[in-house]
Amino acid sequence: MSRKIYLSPSILAADFSRLGEEIQKALEAGADMIHFDVMDGVFVPNISFGIPVIESLRKSISAVFDIHLMISEPEKYIKDFAKAGGDILTFHIETTSHAHRVISMIKDEGKKVGVAVNPATPILMIKDILDQIDVLLVMSVNPGFSGQRFIPSVLKKIKEAHLLKVEGGHNFLIEVDGGLNLENSSEVITAGADILVLGAYTFTGNITENIKKIKKTIEKTIGK
Ligand code: DX5
Ligand code: ZN
Repeated sequence: MSRKIYLSPSILAADFSRLGEEIQKALEAGADMIHFDVMDGVFVPNISFGIPVIESLRKSISAVFDIHLMISEPEKYIKDFAKAGGDILTFHIETTSHAHRVISMIKDEGKKVGVAVNPATPILMIKDILDQIDVLLVMSVNPGFSGQRFIPSVLKKIKEAHLLKVEGGHNFLIEVDGGLNLENSSEVITAGADILVLGAYTFTGNITENIKKIKKTIEKTIGK
C-alpha cells in the first residue's frame, strides 16, 4: 500500500480579510485539511482566533478541520470546539495533568484525538497514551507564531515517534508543525511524518502554485 502524506495548511499565515477565499484556494489545489491555530495568550505568547471564526467557516467549508489548541485548561473548551466544527481536536500535553480526561472528552464528542508536544517536551511524556490517540503533533518550532525557523533537532524526535508507533503497532498519524517548506519537508517525511502543517509557505505568494509545488516534493520523496 502506498504511503499517504496529508497537507494541512495553517491559516495563521493567511489574509484574514479574505479567509474563506484563501482556504478554498488551498483546498482546490489539493490541501487535505485545514489547520486552525487557536492561541490564548497564556500557554503561548500570542492570541489568534477562536470558536466564532471556526463556527463561521464551518458553514461553507466541508473539509476536515484540524484544530490545534494552544490553550491552557483545554478541558474547559473541548465541547465548544467540537460543536463549532472541529474534526481533529489536538491539545498540548504540557497544558493538563489529566490527559486521560481530555482524551475521553474528545472521544465523547465523536472527534479525533490529537496530542501535541513542544520542541522541549520528550516524546516519552506521552508514551502511555499512544494507544488512545489518532494524531501525534510534533512541534518543530516553539508554538505561538507563524514564519519561524524549523528546529532541526526535532527530526530525531519524529524518528523516535515513528519507531514507537511501529514497535507498538499503533495507528496514530504523526503531524509535524512549524517552519516547514520545500527544502525541509522531504527529510521530515523520511523521518516519519504523515501530516505536514504549512503556514507561511502556503499563504505567502501564490497559494495554488505553493500547494502544487509541495505536492510534487511529496511525490518525489515517497517515490510515486
Ligand atoms: C505555531 C503554529 C503553527 C504555525 C505554522 O504556533 O502551531 O501551526 O502557524 O506556521 P509556519 O508554517 O509558518 O511555521
Ligand atoms: Zn499549529
